[in-house]
Amino acid sequence: MSPITTTPLTRRTALAGACTLCAVAVTGCATGQATHTDGRPVRVPRAGIDVGGAVVFPEHRLLVTQPGDGVYRAFSAVCTHQGCAVTDVDDDVVKCPCHGSKFRLTDGSVVKGPAQKPLAERTVTVDGNTLTIT
Ligand code: FES
Repeated sequence: MSPITTTPLTRRTALAGACTLCAVAVTGCATGQATHTDGRPVRVPRAGIDVGGAVVFPEHRLLVTQPGDGVYRAFSAVCTHQGCAVTDVDDDVVKCPCHGSKFRLTDGSVVKGPAQKPLAERTVTVDGNTLTIT
């Protein structure tokens, strides 16, 4: 499955990139965890994650953002309302298509309900042109 590509409406709108490093199936899909079936972390390319923007990697159920130059954060792309996948990056938020919740790209916090809890944050490690997410 390819990442979701968003149309660049503003400089903060994200472009989706390809997850070329992850050919192994992901077990975390049901839980939103960012690990492969064998427990290894997910690795995604930095390319395409613009400063102030974000990319959704649906195959990993991950939202990866770059709120500041060289500062990356990753969140579960599983909406905390009823579990739909957040998909639509628009300016500084990502929206859930099911009931309209919005989450801030910088910290995953809820901007608009019905979701009450923020997106679950993952740990990001920068390794050259690759981000390792656990
Ligand atoms: S599942 Fe996301 S807003 Fe309801």
